[in-house]
Amino acid sequence: MRFESKVVFITGGTKGLGKAMAQAFLAEGASVAVNSRSKEAVDRFAEEFKGQQVLAFDTDIADHAAMEAMASKVYETLGKVDILINNAGIVNPLVPSEKIKKDEFDKVIDVNLKGTFYATQAFGKRMVQQGSGRIVSIASQVALFGEKGFLPYAIAKSGLMMMTRQLAFEWSRHGVTLCAVAPGFIKGGMNEGLIRKEVFVNYLSGRTPMGRMGTVEELVSTILFLASDDARYINGETIVMDGGMTGYTPEGLLDFMSRGKQ
Ligand SMILES: NC(=O)c1ccc[n+]([C@@H]2O[C@H](COP(=O)([O-])OP(=O)(O)OC[C@H]3O[C@@H](n4cnc5c(N)ncnc54)[C@H](OP(=O)(O)O)[C@@H]3O)[C@@H](O)[C@H]2O)c1
Repeated sequence: MRFESKVVFITGGTKGLGKAMAQAFLAEGASVAVNSRSKEAVDRFAEEFKGQQVLAFDTDIADHAAMEAMASKVYETLGKVDILINNAGIVNPLVPSEKIKKDEFDKVIDVNLKGTFYATQAFGKRMVQQGSGRIVSIASQVALFGEKGFLPYAIAKSGLMMMTRQLAFEWSRHGVTLCAVAPGFIKGGMNEGLIRKEVFVNYLSGRTPMGRMGTVEELVSTILFLASDDARYINGETIVMDGGMTGYTPEGLLDFMSRGKQ
């Protein structure tokens, strides 16, 4: 039981990847608290895990005052938070950048970048005070290269990677360390709609050197590793887990030369 007596807070833990992480942390002995915007989703989560060490809040991470109040309540109830998983996130409608609507751009930045910082600040300052803590943020592989359609999402996620570096510098001396994960396309969570169509699964698999999308289990085990003591010296860093997609040139010079027999 790697997380016996640990308290873990997972933003956006009511469904998708966050819920799978919550289950895995519970199975490894942790107490788990989550939040999301929907009261219905929060109630459903609390009901599903009734009898286990769980707390659930209907709080929007983009609401600074509400996040502060929620962090205070969590500390009142559980006494500490050892691990914060910055998981909550949304994706913008995929359109070329010149057509992005202001509201859609603002919403993604408000939630994914500003909201994740609000969560980090609310729990991080308490971790600094307690002299220990681990913060793992979910970035994205699309923050590492240009991918048409994803501009606000990519900007926000690359901001989280810089936040991770900067806060590791500021907070490590107080016992609080941070890292991030940049996953490729995972077969679950916000991709549920997409993966129902084989054509998209085949397309994304074809772009990946390993020839397939990542699984929820693979993502969860990476998160648990990074949150665990085994990863204690990984600090300020973003770990890419994308089956090799980021390092892949669809057609390299040698392929081009061979194809054209130049
Ligand atoms: N799935 C992938 O392939 C993939 C790849 C790379 C990175 N990621 C990242 O992984 C994280 C989890 O994604 P997912 O695929 O599990 O998505 P998901 O199934 O849509 O789940 C997102 C969770 O975040 C919550 N949430 C959204 N906005 C929120 C807000 N403002 N305040 C509080 N909670 C909020 C949602 O609940 P409510 O709607 O009730 O608020 C939900 O519980 C995201 O940060 C995403 O960008 C996913």
